[in-house]
Amino acid sequence: MAAQQQVRAGFVELYGAEPEGVWSAPGRVNLIGEHTDYNDGFVMPFALPHTAVAAVSRRGDGVLRLHSSDVDGGVVELRLDELAPESDRNWTAYPAGVVWALREAGHPVTGADVHLTSTVPAGAGLSSSAALEVVIALALNDLYDLGLQRWQLARLCQRAENVYVGAPTGIMDQTASACCEAGHALFLDTRDLSQKQIPFDLAAEGMRLLVVDTQVKHAHSDGEYGKRRAGCEKGAALLGVDALRDIPYADLDAALARLGDEEEVRRLVRHVVTEDERVERVVTLLEAGDSRAIGQVLTEGHASLRDDFRISCPELDLVVDTALASGALGARMTGGGFGGSAIVLAEAADVDTITKAVEEAFATAGFTAPRVFEAVPSAGARRVS
Ligand code: GLA
Repeated sequence: MAAQQQVRAGFVELYGAEPEGVWSAPGRVNLIGEHTDYNDGFVMPFALPHTAVAAVSRRGDGVLRLHSSDVDGGVVELRLDELAPESDRNWTAYPAGVVWALREAGHPVTGADVHLTSTVPAGAGLSSSAALEVVIALALNDLYDLGLQRWQLARLCQRAENVYVGAPTGIMDQTASACCEAGHALFLDTRDLSQKQIPFDLAAEGMRLLVVDTQVKHAHSDGEYGKRRAGCEKGAALLGVDALRDIPYADLDAALARLGDEEEVRRLVRHVVTEDERVERVVTLLEAGDSRAIGQVLTEGHASLRDDFRISCPELDLVVDTALASGALGARMTGGGFGGSAIVLAEAADVDTITKAVEEAFATAGFTAPRVFEAVPSAGARRVS
């Protein structure tokens, strides 16, 4: 049974009535542009075929009922007037946070029954939480006729994550889930959320993009992500700009010189400014039809995240080193770091060799077996029935 029918049937079983509709929202993988989004910079994610699917109906009595078939336990019942930031450490914080953010912004949401399931791997750096947020935001936007645009839903979801969940993340993941289109990567300026859909069909050119989930779980509500963010903000303040986005690549050396002996801040600034330049280079290459050449840029991005931003880990480095040694065109960690997934760009003919080499390297190192799959740029959030 297709996911949407299963979710619909699950809803009927739980709540005793048909849902008003079913919505889906994808996870994402980021091609390039890491830790640039909270520096007002550029990112380039695309949507995965893995989605959160939610069946939803309105309620008028100020109650939110939540159920996930992925989690043990029954229906969680919450009162809307009792929703409070950082009061919930469970999965329910994501959908409840969205309801909280909508109501905080003055939108007349009076309750909902929700049953959902997700195929986005959790803790793998593939935005399982953004998928949960966006699917609920889109459903409530439709059902309550709120008239919000996709980018506005993304902003509300980010607020849910920052304030309600308490994770200081940027805007990339929610915008990717809400705005991506099949067959395209999303070139997003995170300062004003202006966007350009860049055709990205590697299969047509004989290439593949693999996602390698290292199975090392990460969390953004722990300290390291926030420390990097604070370090970037310190860099911007020391350099007298609103955000690191405002340091032109051509001025990087001069900016680094001005940071004097602030060694850690210098590394963070160097990563962010060069990463913005890498995003622009990838866009230029893709628009020129030179897709193979982006591999080198991805690999440079990994070195910067590993050496300057210092958020890689032995498993991610092993994927990248092994893939490159086995003929990959490029490879890098993707997402927030400290675990999660890497991406590998490869000729279609080399995929099996590279996959096998990575699996063997993990076995030899004594690491948990990685999960490898091909990432096909897929549709953004939508109503499915
Ligand atoms: C996580 C965050 C994003 C972004 C990435 C790093 O995925 O949710 O906002 O900062 O890390 O690029």
